[in-house]
Amino acid sequence: MSGRIPRDFIDDLLVRVDIVDLIDSHVPLKKTGNNFVARCPFHVEKTPSFSVNRKKQFFHCFGCGASGNAISFLMDFSHLDFVEAVEDLAGFVGVEVPRESIEYPSTGQKKEDLSSLYMLMEQVAAFYVGQLRSSDEGKKAVEYLKNRGVSGDCAGDFMLGYAPDEWKALTSRFNPKLLLEAGLLVDKEGGQPYDRFRGRLMFPIRDKRARIIGFGGRVLDDSLPKYLNSPETPLFHKGKEVYGLYELLEKNAKPQRILIVEGYMDVIALAQFGIHYAVAALGTAASQAHLDLLFRFSSELVFCFDGDKAGREAAWRAMEPAFSSLKDGRQIRIMLLPQNHDPDSLVREEGVDGFVERVQAAETLSEYFFGHFSNELNLSEMEGRAQLVNKAKPYLDKLPESVFKEMMFARLKELSGWVGLDVLENAATLASKQVSKQHSKANRKQPQDKGRLSSARVAIALLVQNPRLAELVEQRDIDWNGLEFSGADLFKEILQTIVDKNPASQAVLLECYRGHLDEKSIKALALLDLQVPDDKIDTVFCDALDRLLTQARETVWARLLDKSKTEGLDAQEKELLRKMQAAKLFGAK
Ligand code: UTP
Ligand code: MN
Repeated sequence: MSGRIPRDFIDDLLVRVDIVDLIDSHVPLKKTGNNFVARCPFHVEKTPSFSVNRKKQFFHCFGCGASGNAISFLMDFSHLDFVEAVEDLAGFVGVEVPRESIEYPSTGQKKEDLSSLYMLMEQVAAFYVGQLRSSDEGKKAVEYLKNRGVSGDCAGDFMLGYAPDEWKALTSRFNPKLLLEAGLLVDKEGGQPYDRFRGRLMFPIRDKRARIIGFGGRVLDDSLPKYLNSPETPLFHKGKEVYGLYELLEKNAKPQRILIVEGYMDVIALAQFGIHYAVAALGTAASQAHLDLLFRFSSELVFCFDGDKAGREAAWRAMEPAFSSLKDGRQIRIMLLPQNHDPDSLVREEGVDGFVERVQAAETLSEYFFGHFSNELNLSEMEGRAQLVNKAKPYLDKLPESVFKEMMFARLKELSGWVGLDVLENAATLASKQVSKQHSKANRKQPQDKGRLSSARVAIALLVQNPRLAELVEQRDIDWNGLEFSGADLFKEILQTIVDKNPASQAVLLECYRGHLDEKSIKALALLDLQVPDDKIDTVFCDALDRLLTQARETVWARLLDKSKTEGLDAQEKELLRKMQAAKLFGAK
């Protein structure tokens, strides 16, 4: 790719654009009080719960939980990736996107290379199509497709082709240097480069903008390997792309659901039967990048797995990315096929209606997930239920904050009967969960102490919403050592980010956390409605901070006193206690 987009430019862009204008140009907004509202573009609703706040430069839907800044809006609304969204936003504001040149002295140069690579891929695909349609050798491939029930139209939709069984079919026709870069040649040391795909039925892989980024090729007989795929190239990144997405969007840009199947031929066979909403992960397990990509086009994904042992194991491996990608409003279902079937063979045997019925009856993620454990563990024994908690909780922890997450925890509690989960459940929904291990002792006491939690939350949320407040904290020169409160690490982390990056607004600060471990917690804080009038923000923040600091010191104080009576203190702790005593005497903050 051409160089990175400079961070400063993105920050500037977010300051320059007005999210209200931006969103209004896509979804007409109505002003009510401080907010602008509309019916949410991300879920179906009758009354508007989608709200855009000019001051915060942020949108939020109270119905489905969608939220974010201008870039997030474009990513979600126009199905763009991050770079595309920045480009779009720059276009809206009327500025050019600058690029940092890291590896390449001239960024223009590299851009040109990519477009010549795309062009080459296009020409090679056309060559393969020509070979399929009109060469003698290609007749074998046409015959093969016919035997598998693929029509000429369908082959055309997928731009299927045939790579002749020659070593230099491409090299003799196209620029070898570009061919190599596009992954179309094999370059063995000491030998001449030769065509990677020979004597194969060819499946071009297109991105959602119709550009050919790679190929898959299948042999026409039983020889091995059955399929060959393009290697990673500047155009092709397996972990991020799926097969069939372009073809799917051509038929329906907003499908009700998307099926994720395993093979090229599964996608094609389903399309042949009029099921145009299937894609295949390219010979790899579906990754979170895949799911995030697909969720941009549909709110329901159905994983299809073979019913054999390997298929069931693959289904279970998909749980991790699945849980991480499940925001409210998104749904994932799991469909295990009968033994010895893949979607291709099943749709042929049972027909469209039978197949669609199975899709509709596919288990929900929660059914599948808890069902898996009920099969594996003996939940009538305490040991089994304890294992259930230990095994299930790490997955549930991955779920983004949502009603669904709470319900999953509730179900886990129901199945395990473990009341300790109440505490976990609360902890999970608190934004302030980044508490380091050394603080965990003090924190165990916290569930009774709501006041302390809320001061911390108020302070952190105000800081996120008004990054300028960091200055007030800096002025105090606080010694964070020996301060214990829930969310301390998050607070310090945000403070440091603000000091380092100096974000002009909440929207810019949030941009610093895109894809960051703390992104979700920080978004949740950004969305807290604290109902503080503008002219009271500083006072409320300082009060919350004071209360927080006092409470944090009390916690340490109580813990140290307690320990001095029981285990005794080490030198460092004694020193801390001494300092705190002095501070108490002299009333220092
Ligand atoms: P399958 O072997 O299940 O293929 O591999 P399939 O789609 O049912 O193939 P047909 O029906 O025999 O034509 C599923 C997917 O795994 C990848 C391919 O993406 C394939 O579509 N694969 C399989 C490879 O990359 N290499 C192989 O050798 C085999
Ligand atoms: Mn198959």
